[in-house]
Amino acid sequence: MSDNPSPEPIPASPHRRRPRYSGKNPRRFEEKYKEHNPQRYGETVAKVLASGKTPAGSHRSIMVAEILDVLKPQPGEIAADCTLGYGGHARELLPKLQPGGRLIGLDVDPIELPKAEARLRELGFGTDVFVAHRSNFAGLPKILAIEQLSGVDMVLADLGVSSMQLDDPGRGFSVKFEGPLDMRMNPSRGQPVRVLLEKISADELAALLEENADEPHARLLADLLAGKTFPTTTALTNTVHRALLRAATDEERDDSIRRVFQALRIAVNDEFSALDSFLRNLPACLNPGGRVAVLTFHSGEDRRVKKSFEASLRDGLYADIAQDVIRPTPAERHDNPRSSPAKLRWARRAG
Ligand SMILES: C[S@@+](CC[C@H](N)C(=O)[O-])C[C@H]1O[C@@H](n2cnc3c(N)ncnc32)[C@H](O)[C@@H]1O
Repeated sequence: MSDNPSPEPIPASPHRRRPRYSGKNPRRFEEKYKEHNPQRYGETVAKVLASGKTPAGSHRSIMVAEILDVLKPQPGEIAADCTLGYGGHARELLPKLQPGGRLIGLDVDPIELPKAEARLRELGFGTDVFVAHRSNFAGLPKILAIEQLSGVDMVLADLGVSSMQLDDPGRGFSVKFEGPLDMRMNPSRGQPVRVLLEKISADELAALLEENADEPHARLLADLLAGKTFPTTTALTNTVHRALLRAATDEERDDSIRRVFQALRIAVNDEFSALDSFLRNLPACLNPGGRVAVLTFHSGEDRRVKKSFEASLRDGLYADIAQDVIRPTPAERHDNPRSSPAKLRWARRAG
């Protein structure tokens, strides 16, 4: 991983004691030591996958076949994976670019990026074919300039958060597990959700809940949450739950909790302005005939991608775009319920 073209060596991870837990099976994220070590405990990991869950500390890449079909990677081509995450899509793309091709991986997360890079190195992808940059994808043109590239043949963006981020209570994204109320993909930048809620006015929060998540109880929740301190994810979840006890059914309440988390996550990570910059810069980052695939997970993201692709088609920057969204197959949705909301759109740069 680097902010320049020559990646730094990755330090060996220090020896860690196996976490102790009560009961027959580990429940907490950090206790699931077998799931964290798929090379050694393949059988346990296979069982977790077969049950439709994501093993702790990993991520199941979504719509891999559809993305390969859209991007059509060829030997010698150059790809930018703008959301490297676990490295799952990159791992599939890289062999198809050989011989002679390269993949530039970007991610904002300074905790997961070195792990993804190490995983891909272990699979034999050296610095001649793969480099990783800790960068927001809004800065793609800068990264291409560092790599002395005028454009790439394909771009992938698989938006949102990874399962590693979501499932680690210490990152504060989880509606299910207690952790500090943070939700920053890069914990050294910006402010955690706890601080945002302390500072925000009720009017601003109501607008944010509506814009970022179409939350129907935005006003009621904003009046209750703005200016208050919620040190943990559970404190926030419980407050929303209590507030909607009479106003909503169990299912609607859970949906509201999920939407409140989504809206706040989008806000502290400035996700929409990063996506808008990325989409604006995209045509200029693609070589003639270059392809882009974007996976979105909620309507706010999909709307932006759709509008931007349509506008660039009208302007003649793209030769073709997806007429409709491509959805995961029923089999994938069944095997990996986290794929259910995914929508794939693509565009092809004019030649
Ligand atoms: C859904 S995961 C990607 C998973 C990956 N495709 C895989 O198969 O392993 C999304 C990743 O995008 C990263 N991310 C989100 N917004 C970003 C941005 N604006 N710039 C760069 N990375 C971003 C997150 O940190 C996360 O690691």
